Amino acid sequence: LPVPPMSIRFDQGAGTLSPEGPTLTRRMSDLEGLFRDSEAWAAAVADGDPIVYSVVSSPVPEIDRELPQSITTIQPGTTAGELWMTKGHQHPNHQGEIYLCISGHGGLLMFDGTETRWVDMTPGTIGYMPPGWAHRSINVGDEPYSFLAVYPGGAGHDYGWVLEHGMGQRVLAGADGLDFVNYVEG
Ligand code: 6PG
Ligand code: NI
Repeated sequence: LPVPPMSIRFDQGAGTLSPEGPTLTRRMSDLEGLFRDSEAWAAAVADGDPIVYSVVSSPVPEIDRELPQSITTIQPGTTAGELWMTKGHQHPNHQGEIYLCISGHGGLLMFDGTETRWVDMTPGTIGYMPPGWAHRSINVGDEPYSFLAVYPGGAGHDYGWVLEHGMGQRVLAGADGLDFVNYVEG
């Protein structure tokens, strides 16, 4: 159903949008097959299955020609050294998207099937995902990382593409900074 012109407020402390649409909570168990160390992943699932990230949405529907938004908050953490991240997806019909960093420190990993790109995200940074680039967000700091996403309502989410093709690189917490490692060789 279409919605009227409106203003939408984000409450940073509560992590809520008002008015709000659907909210999604992704726990460690929802990230099966994505971390390099599957035993460490299974141990984290067994040990409390922590919330890795949540996505609150505005009431704008995900239908063609609408322009929905959501705010994702990724908790800080690592699994066998690999920084906590979103599942990552490709938009099936290759539509572009923007992210605006609201708080914390993150990164935007993009992969077009051949090349990998990294955009450092600090408050005020707008990250642009051109059509055809799969995208994953990663918390590289020690506090929650939040960003606003704005995307075409008909974009859709293809998670199978990332399971099949990977993201080109993985991002690990190194002794002095980030370690980027090849996705396939780990
Ligand atoms: C989108 C955005 C964004 C994304 C979340 C969670 O297309 O809707 O890229 O809202 O869905 O950050 O990431 P995953 O969808 O990869 O779990
Ligand atoms: Ni997207």
